Amino acid sequence: MAHLLGHPRFELMRHDVTFPLYVEVDEIYNLACPASPVHYQADPVQTTKTSVVGAINMLRLAKRVKAKILQASTSEVYGDPDVHPQPESYWGRVNPIGFRSCYDEGKRCAETLFFDYRRQHGMPVKVVRIFNTYGPRMHPNDGRVVSNLIVQALRGEPITLYGEGTYTRSFCYLPRIQYVGVK
Ligand SMILES: NC(=O)c1ccc[n+]([C@@H]2O[C@H](COP(=O)([O-])OP(=O)(O)OC[C@H]3O[C@@H](n4cnc5c(N)ncnc54)[C@H](O)[C@@H]3O)[C@@H](O)[C@H]2O)c1
Repeated sequence: MAHLLGHPRFELMRHDVTFPLYVEVDEIYNLACPASPVHYQADPVQTTKTSVVGAINMLRLAKRVKAKILQASTSEVYGDPDVHPQPESYWGRVNPIGFRSCYDEGKRCAETLFFDYRRQHGMPVKVVRIFNTYGPRMHPNDGRVVSNLIVQALRGEPITLYGEGTYTRSFCYLPRIQYVGVK
């Protein structure tokens, strides 16, 4: 967001989504959640709260102001899948008590809340299950695989491969977005 800070039509508010938010908006994109394992495992209880209480607060806000709302979910809702690639009809092979569960189960519960708000309140919610993304403006200390490999290669350090080096992943490249009127 740093490059947008001086723009006259951009306003940044610092807010923890585990607390209610009262603003007037047309659209909500709920991306709030530490996403890298190093970050989300640092305070796992806060990670679950961010996904679950955060989803409730953002859904309440969307309902109150009749805003469109999108939830950033994750491929991790499939857990450790035994079906590849995963179709949306696949419900996953999940573990509710592991080190990654604060992230995975929090996101699963957030999806439940979104679909229950749709069923109970007729809200036109959207949920996207994002697979690993990479692209311009990633943080060098992000901690996820593509930036780790690139940063290690640029620094001439050994490249970390987990497991036997046979893992496969789906990656999603996000090109630089050019905002209207912003250089
Ligand atoms: N990048 C990916 O590959 C990927 C894949 C699947 C899902 N997602 C999801 O997309 C969203 C954005 O991912 P990202 O890669 O930009 O992650 P990121 O860690 O770079 O950004 C997450 C942001 O959420 C904020 N945040 C954390 N807890 C918060 C709270 N309680 N209240 C308000 N803000 C809070 C953090 O400060 C950070 O700015 C996340 O919800 C993530 O789970 C991302």
